[in-house]
Amino acid sequence: MTDRYCVFGNPVAHSRSPAIHASFARQCAQDIAYEAILAPLDGFSQAVKRFIGAGGKGANVTVPFKEEAFRLCTRLSPRAMRAGAVNTLAFAGDEIYGDNTDGAGLVRDIEVNLGFTLAGKRVLLLGAGGAARGAIAPLLASRPASLFIANRTADKAEALACAFADLAMVDAGNYDKTAGSRFDLVVNATSASLSGTALPLPAGIFAAGSLAYDMMYGKGETPFLAQARAQGAAQLADGLGMLVEQAAEAFFVWRGVRPDSAPVLAALRVQLAA
Ligand code: ATR
Repeated sequence: MTDRYCVFGNPVAHSRSPAIHASFARQCAQDIAYEAILAPLDGFSQAVKRFIGAGGKGANVTVPFKEEAFRLCTRLSPRAMRAGAVNTLAFAGDEIYGDNTDGAGLVRDIEVNLGFTLAGKRVLLLGAGGAARGAIAPLLASRPASLFIANRTADKAEALACAFADLAMVDAGNYDKTAGSRFDLVVNATSASLSGTALPLPAGIFAAGSLAYDMMYGKGETPFLAQARAQGAAQLADGLGMLVEQAAEAFFVWRGVRPDSAPVLAALRVQLAA
């Protein structure tokens, strides 16, 4: 019997997850089917229950349902609890298990694929929404020298820093507060590029040899990466690697085998450039 998985989102037609998981399944000789399901904005939990009823074994969750998925779960992984959001569901009997592989995917892309060691580095995280929240604990687990969360609305950054104060001293504030500091890694977790706005990053924040990382990706350079290049970042990376790595981690949660993400990322990179 082929095990069924899916990604729930709205919109979801653009999702690359079905192609990524089909590649993983071929590579690992796993008999699974993976589809994209458009859930109505007011009908996420019904869509999940319908999928479970039809024999679904697990699912990914994307925008805008990650927080709702968190509330729907009967059991959560520690990293999902920390993130306050779920991107990976696994179904067994009455149990809906929720995990969050986004932060692990980000860190794996940075450390393994890009070869950038986080230990001892000064990290600046831009944004204080769900995407930023999910990245904090996994980033801190790699022992950076410092973490600063900058956000347009300073209160939200400060609240996030407080929420993770048991893990490390985290600094927070608006973009102006980063002036005069230098960072080895700057991660864009804002949705500013969706509206085409540039972030108010003070000059001189990119240290020598710094990496600018955008959780977003698209055809060509993202607006944040163009800005980072102009402001002197040495290395640029978009979020395509994170997308593939969070999927690999979800595949591992479901199937207990870890696919080789490198060929899948390379193929996706070629497709995106076409
Ligand atoms: P997500 O789940 O993708 O993180 P979100 O929770 O809506 O989405 O958070 C979006 C983030 O992008 C927020 O940090 C938001 O800043 P505010 O908290 O000040 O709203 C940030 N953001 C969105 N548009 C922005 C813009 N034009 N300039 C700066 N920050 C922006």
